[in-house]
Amino acid sequence: MTDLNSIDTRVFPPSARRGRDCGRLKLAGVSVTELAEQFGTPLYVVDEQAARDQAREAREALQREFARVGTEATVYYASKALLNVEVARWMTDEGLGIDVASGGELAVALAAGADPARIGFHGNNKSEAEITRAVAAGVGTLIIDSEQEIARIASAARATGVRQRVRLRINSGVHAGAHDFLATAHEDQKFGLPLARAAEIVRDIASHESLEFVGLHCHIGSQIFSSDAFRESAKRLLGVYPTLAEILGRPVPELNLGGGFGIAYTPAQAAEAIDIVQLAGSLADIVATTCSEAGIPLPKVAFEPGRSIVGQAGVTLYTVGTTKPVQLAESDSGGDPLDLAFAEGLGVEGGSTERLGPDGRFAERLYVSVDGGMSDNPRPALYGADYHAVIANRVSDAAAQLVRVVGKHCEAGDIVVQRDVLPADVAPGDLLAVAATGAYCWSLSSSYNYVPRPPIVAVRNGEARVIVRGETEDELLSRSVR
Ligand code: LLP
Repeated sequence: MTDLNSIDTRVFPPSARRGRDCGRLKLAGVSVTELAEQFGTPLYVVDEQAARDQAREAREALQREFARVGTEATVYYASKALLNVEVARWMTDEGLGIDVASGGELAVALAAGADPARIGFHGNNKSEAEITRAVAAGVGTLIIDSEQEIARIASAARATGVRQRVRLRINSGVHAGAHDFLATAHEDQKFGLPLARAAEIVRDIASHESLEFVGLHCHIGSQIFSSDAFRESAKRLLGVYPTLAEILGRPVPELNLGGGFGIAYTPAQAAEAIDIVQLAGSLADIVATTCSEAGIPLPKVAFEPGRSIVGQAGVTLYTVGTTKPVQLAESDSGGDPLDLAFAEGLGVEGGSTERLGPDGRFAERLYVSVDGGMSDNPRPALYGADYHAVIANRVSDAAAQLVRVVGKHCEAGDIVVQRDVLPADVAPGDLLAVAATGAYCWSLSSSYNYVPRPPIVAVRNGEARVIVRGETEDELLSRSVR
């Protein structure tokens, strides 16, 4: 039977625990009730040490494992996951480069003092202004994602008087996400260029004096849990390296395999989350074996993880405003196989029968409305993403209640946590903490319904500080021309 008061540090940051006396959740030694009092809710909280540790551990694991097989690994932080000046500084401090995908992201990375030479610039439609700015700033690598871009980057580099390092993004036909991967001749999506055309395109790149081609790139998806898809895409990309080497008259020096390492959002997913040390080991073996089979020298490799660096470090705090029980009819979601599977996974079935119908089904779902929602985390609405919540301001010995945590926006799809169990006495005024909101929540946030974006507070060693200010209603209103 799941203990509804337990704090699962496979999804919450490792520092998360309940205070022994008061039962309040603490993050990096800071009580969430104090955070809520000082900064209000909703509130994004980021455990700085957790983010730094993930960054450093990923870099060290990849560098160690690739050194074992005889080459070097570079790790770029995919900043789209969560970017502000502080986070960019943490990543830079921990020895990561920064991967940006727009002029705006580039501006933040530069404002944080990131070494431009250690920035990679992505995008399937970079504007000429973005290209010029990136080249002039001394960005280390631009990732070419269309044929038109070749001449544009070449001319910006000529005008600036530099030889610009570039990679070519390949649509490898391998797509991975969650648990499966799919390998086709080509994938019907906007990123990258077909592998079959790589030789011709690299010949074009090589014809420009102002461009230095350093290798192929691919990013095969997000939330990847096994190394199989990386094996397939590395094989496919490295398969053309001998041909490219002939064109260039030298070996291709680098290979970038992108990001996408999966994380657990809920305790049920925890067993599957990627262990970076293990993954780094298999990736190194895969690249080494593929190169020796193809008879080519081992290139330097690069990776671009985002979610796996900051996802678990983030927690969102909300205050409960209203609750509403909805009876689940036999034919209704009471029999929803997902609800049942969820209950079974938790060991609720046959346990806390108080809240279950006579046949072990949930008789009722409690809708718990909080003071944020799809404006601070659109991922459940966009991707059907799962999350996990706990009551954070107290412990409770009440029975398990099936809940759906919902936001305050004017949409039925405004869901924060699709299904979870909370103590049945969850009530207005309670604080909820939602785990693993560090990646792609603030980044995808909006001010829908003129709900201002919450601030981001970093916690470390018992102290809290705002690293991104929240929006105010006045700021939002000031954009309207009056
Ligand atoms: N490199 C490239 C070229 C990418 O496009 C991405 C993510 C990454 C690296 C980092 O992937 P990660 O390690 O974070 O999975 N908004 C979606 C995720 C979109 C990811 C787009 N590209 C979400 O909230 O799940």
